[in-house]
Amino acid sequence: MSDMQNIQWFPGHMTKTKRKIQSSLKLVDAVAEIIDARIPVSSRNPDLAQLIQSKPRLVLLNKCDMANQTATKMWIDYFKKQGITAIAIDCKSGRGLNQFAPAVNKVLEQRLEKLKSKGMINPTLRIMIVGIPNVGKSSFINKIAKQNRAKVEDRPGVTRGNQWYTIAKNLEMLDTPGVLWPKFDDKIVGEHLAFTGAVKDQILDVELLAVRLLDFFKKLKPKDFIERFKLEDVDIENIESFDLLELIGKKRGMLVSGGVVNTERAAIMLLDEFRSAKLGRITVEMPYGE
Ligand code: G4P
Repeated sequence: MSDMQNIQWFPGHMTKTKRKIQSSLKLVDAVAEIIDARIPVSSRNPDLAQLIQSKPRLVLLNKCDMANQTATKMWIDYFKKQGITAIAIDCKSGRGLNQFAPAVNKVLEQRLEKLKSKGMINPTLRIMIVGIPNVGKSSFINKIAKQNRAKVEDRPGVTRGNQWYTIAKNLEMLDTPGVLWPKFDDKIVGEHLAFTGAVKDQILDVELLAVRLLDFFKKLKPKDFIERFKLEDVDIENIESFDLLELIGKKRGMLVSGGVVNTERAAIMLLDEFRSAKLGRITVEMPYGE
């Protein structure tokens, strides 16, 4: 269950969250940031770099089962060019999770070398998970924990209450993720988070949101979307998005008396089908501003 829907980010809360993450950061060697592969820009926390400073990090592009495969590859390349290791994962099926430990080891190569030069052979390295709500932090931790049952006991020197999972030889993961806030003051970010369902529909105008999603579809022309709603004969690029919403509603028989289309129902249906990837594997944000 997404906690974006429950969390109200207010300054006091943000400060508290920040402090909590900062104290956990002291216990780990690296940070794994989970983002949503469909919206790799909007699902990142704007202050993460500043928060973790020089701590090595890697990016986990989660929900890749719902994102376009080519786009995900492009994102991995994009991060690589920035010197950041990124891997694609799917916490529903567990696909890609076996790449996690090797990726962490790669990210911590330098640290391992340094420790080795100090005579520390095979030191235990620790990592924590961070991310904004709804990106799949709990799903990731649960999946990894199931694969690696061994829970590390509390030890002297380790803050009481912290639990660690051994996820590979000499590699441990903190069992609670750091919950970060999105860049919620940016309208586009808010919209893209809303597309994926990370923001409560009740606080948004669903018809407006569906129209914005259709604005995007008109440019992208997703094959599955066109086939699913039998829009092959429609001049998709030039039709008004609201007219397209009406047409979709009509095709699904969502009519009220007098043949008028219930566009609110059509909007809810469209968003629902997008969120469950029934309209295909769609990435909303591309690297390089494409
Ligand atoms: P969070 O801790 O970061 O807030 O995220 P959480 O794990 O609660 O996941 C948020 C939603 O995303 C959940 O769906 C979860 O099942 C889904 N999810 C997580 N990872 C993946 C993935 O790789 N692929 C897909 N398709 N979905 C994923 P939910 O509707 O809130 O709950 P439920 O469907 O599990 O009941």
